[in-house]
Amino acid sequence: MKFCVLMGSPRREGNTAALLGPFLEECANLGIETEVIPLYERAVNPCLGCMACQDRLDGPGCVQDDDFGEIFQAMANCDVIVLATPIYSFFCAAPMKALLDRTIYAGVKNYGREKGPRLLEGKRLVSIVTCGYPPERGADLWEEGLKRFCRHGKLEYMGLFCRQDRGGGEPFLNEDRVRAVRDFVQAIRISIRGSER
Ligand SMILES: Cc1cc2nc3c(=O)[nH]c(=O)nc-3n(C[C@H](O)[C@H](O)[C@H](O)COP(=O)(O)O)c2cc1C
Repeated sequence: MKFCVLMGSPRREGNTAALLGPFLEECANLGIETEVIPLYERAVNPCLGCMACQDRLDGPGCVQDDDFGEIFQAMANCDVIVLATPIYSFFCAAPMKALLDRTIYAGVKNYGREKGPRLLEGKRLVSIVTCGYPPERGADLWEEGLKRFCRHGKLEYMGLFCRQDRGGGEPFLNEDRVRAVRDFVQAIRISIRGSER
């Protein structure tokens, strides 16, 4: 089993990275292979809306020469896409938004001369999120966006793990959070195993 972890925080030692630590450790404990892609260290330009990708049905077919093609391939090759992001302006951080925009067009061949496949159909997706507001007010719009993204692309949305950055000098990570994020990994694996029976 392989997870493709798209890291959308610019802060290498920030809160999102802190949650990802035990998440990745638990993956290793369970024999889950992980590939972590730090989006702030890659070039994924915004979508140009040129629609060129719509007439290439057997692959993403984006005209831009940046790191998108390689990242799209990594998503296509894994079992679970993990979107790890801080909430910025009630959605994900900008590099991840650019990636999602490019993915939803290049990956869904709905608008060209003939209709084609949804290239990530059936792929599973989860999200690891940190935000300043309580999760129900900080990450709710992100989660709704993800659900619709998955419905449109025919991916399987499996859920979100979110913890609040309460600030005020309170350490972000604590034992409860570490245990909970490890449990989240286990629940993903159990759910996948269950659906394979
Ligand atoms: C530019 C910016 C925008 C933010 N916007 C929101 C927001 O809309 N809602 C929210 O709940 N938190 C918001 N936050 C708080 C962050 O989501 C939160 O502190 C998060 O844990 C930071 O994660 P990081 O340490 O991985 O960068 C924002 C933070 C920044 C820097």
